[in-house]
Amino acid sequence: MHVIVTNNDTEAGKKAFEIIKDAMANGAKVLGLATGSTPVKMYEAMVNSDVDFSQMTSVNLDEYVGMAPDNPQSYRYFMQEHLFNKKPFKNTYVPNGLAEDADAETKRYNQVIADNPIDLQVLGIGRNGHIGFNEPGSPFDAQTRKVPLTQSTIDANARFFKDENEVPRYAYSMGIGSIMKSKKIILMAFGEDKADAIKGMIEGPVTTDLPASVLQDKDNVTVIVDKAAASKLS
Ligand code: F6R
Repeated sequence: MHVIVTNNDTEAGKKAFEIIKDAMANGAKVLGLATGSTPVKMYEAMVNSDVDFSQMTSVNLDEYVGMAPDNPQSYRYFMQEHLFNKKPFKNTYVPNGLAEDADAETKRYNQVIADNPIDLQVLGIGRNGHIGFNEPGSPFDAQTRKVPLTQSTIDANARFFKDENEVPRYAYSMGIGSIMKSKKIILMAFGEDKADAIKGMIEGPVTTDLPASVLQDKDNVTVIVDKAAASKLS
């Protein structure tokens, strides 16, 4: 695990994009992507560049169950707004929040991942150490599945909704087993409220209680944090 401390999220986003460009120069064709506030500056750097993504495929980590793709709170909508509408990709995959059959949808998505092995996965981290929506207790070998969100995650996501009751309680999430098959992984985190999760991930025991700790002893993982998120590291 390589740790890079930056001054702010803009610098971190540019750094992450450098790693993406380097991977693309070395033949990467499939990017694993995340939503939320963390990767926003990275997407800005991608959009403001002259890099052509039209031969690239993206596979997103997760989507809220029950959320239509044209709902502004959906992760599909987020991706269209922040990246795909401005920088077209060849194929873009996000779980279908409206799927009627959850088992069929998770099976379909696992096949998408199998057919498009991820060269470079971008991750954020939850305050409780989740990656994707793999909440504490998630098995390290899990594949895509329907997961209940913890109260900590519901509280954190409530900032994007008018009313806490509107925050979905379930998501489809790529599993940790699938994430760990990616050739390279970048995890970014900003702000003091991520400092405990970052400390636990880097310095604590490797445990399903803090899902991101699975990344700890891996050479192919780069962690990019600002000073606030790094503030509790010894
Ligand atoms: C989003 C995702 C989540 C977020 C995490 C951090 O696709 O998989 O794991 O990365 O909840 O969210 P933000 O970036 O909003 O702090």
